[in-house]
Amino acid sequence: MSKMSKKIVIANWKMNPVSFKEAEKLFKNINKTFFGLKKTEVVICSPCVYLAKLKNLAKKIKLGGENIFYEESGAYTGEISAEMLYDTGAKYVILGHSERRTIFGETNEDVNKKIKAGLSVGLTPIVCIGEKERSENNEYLNFVKEQIELGFKNILKTSIGKIIVAYEPVWAIGKNAVREATAEEFLEISIFIKKVLSDKFGAQEASKVKIIYGGSVNPKNIEAFIKVGQADGFLVGRASLDPIKFGEIINLTENISEK
Ligand code: PGA
Repeated sequence: MSKMSKKIVIANWKMNPVSFKEAEKLFKNINKTFFGLKKTEVVICSPCVYLAKLKNLAKKIKLGGENIFYEESGAYTGEISAEMLYDTGAKYVILGHSERRTIFGETNEDVNKKIKAGLSVGLTPIVCIGEKERSENNEYLNFVKEQIELGFKNILKTSIGKIIVAYEPVWAIGKNAVREATAEEFLEISIFIKKVLSDKFGAQEASKVKIIYGGSVNPKNIEAFIKVGQADGFLVGRASLDPIKFGEIINLTENISEK
């Protein structure tokens, strides 16, 4: 990533908060925590039913969805299309989150179709990849490589720079996390991810892809991920539901510079 590009802090609210009233309060409280950012973009990915109403609340926060279906329209009860999400005012969409892969059986092929659908309407896909566990024989690198190979199959070279890759090792996510990844582990895997992308799309295009970290992100681990891990940003679950913590993460990301 060029040093001139902005960092990005993305909230993944998941299936929270429980009502629009609470979502509105959280959104407004987060909005109050930062001012005049120059180097950081803030995105809140919320349940899609809140997006159209949140759009009117604040211009400095961008909105995103947490999933789309890859078809344009039709008999797909319960699904929403890329166009429908875009129409709510969302500019981003989280795709291939490990919870969707595990609970709803989403495959790399599904993620691939969803990336293409998102790109076709102008959404920025935030594509989640990451292994379930770390084996001693580096098998996890093959797992991550396959997620990229299949997930990014036949994506146009000219589109790859529009995608954000979120490395979220499953063992570091949520309340059952074993531990967070270390900044060194993130640096190593992000170099690996860039190599796989540049073999596939060329070094120039691959260098445009933001690689962000997710998994137990909190105000205490931001500094190392930026300075040592050279993270382009963060995907934040639990801490994004706490405006004080999320505000700290935003402001630290803005103020900490890479080495
Ligand atoms: P966490 O979740 O920050 O609560 O670990 C991250 C995610 O699932 O995107």
